[in-house]
Amino acid sequence: MKSPHQQPDPRKTPSATGEAADVPEASASIRLERKHPLAIRWMHWVNFPVLFTMIWSGILIYWNDSDNPYQHAHRVYRIGVGRLTVVRFFPDWFYTLLHVPYHVTLGLSYHFFFMWIFALNGVAWVLYTWISGEWRFLLPDRRSLRDAIQVTLVDLHLRKGLPRQTKYNGAQRIAYTSCVLMGAVMLLTGLAIYKPTQLHWLTSALGGYEMARWIHFWTTMGFVGFFGIHVVQVALAGWNNFRAMVSGFEVQRAESPSLEAERSRWP
Ligand code: HEM
Repeated sequence: MKSPHQQPDPRKTPSATGEAADVPEASASIRLERKHPLAIRWMHWVNFPVLFTMIWSGILIYWNDSDNPYQHAHRVYRIGVGRLTVVRFFPDWFYTLLHVPYHVTLGLSYHFFFMWIFALNGVAWVLYTWISGEWRFLLPDRRSLRDAIQVTLVDLHLRKGLPRQTKYNGAQRIAYTSCVLMGAVMLLTGLAIYKPTQLHWLTSALGGYEMARWIHFWTTMGFVGFFGIHVVQVALAGWNNFRAMVSGFEVQRAESPSLEAERSRWP
């Protein structure tokens, strides 16, 4: 099935494949677009295993409370109404399947080591994006919400025709900027529950220990939700798009808007 985001392979234009051309030669030519700077690619791929380790070790720690829902003072999270629980985080089969039980100290060691890498990588990414000017491709603008709705409708096959975009469309701008915000929330709430005595001012500012812990948990779920959608979208967008996050370059039609030209216009 062809995704609405999947760009036609520019190399398969009539002139490139040797078929009879019914488009002018000039519009059939392609070029290499410098899409993702090296630093962004490194930080993006470092983030993937680091975030994975943070989530995995977080589950090892969280199990400690879930295993004893009636003995521990800590709350076990769930979705439900009143006494009715629809989903409990997490059901026993989930822990058993992932071999989670009884690895709390292992989880704590990994969590408290990798959190520094997650923090340093995140701060470096924000600084680089800001100083290089790449934030202009990433931050939502006045059109992003409308574009994001349009992109979602196209994805759901309820409408045709994607809005014009440069590096990222409106939905991506909103999603990637949310990642930065979620990362900041993870760090702050994490610090608040890591050192609630030394950083009592932070813990209180976040609504207390239990609230900070609640936000920490649900922001993790937000990251998991983002990751699921992100990977599906990347798969649908196709090889050319994915390869650009590895090599830095994307094959583009000559007439598509040039990112380099846009970068050169930045102050
Ligand atoms: C298997 C895992 C992953 C794959 C295959 C993947 C792939 C990609 C690709 C291809 C892009 C460029 C999209 C485009 O140019 O249209 C991208 C961008 C991005 N991804 Fe991922 N990604 C993965 C994991 C993650 C994770 C775990 C996060 C963070 C939670 C993440 C956050 C982002 C962000 C914030 C951007 C924008 C980067 C920027 O321009 O500064 N990705 N990803």
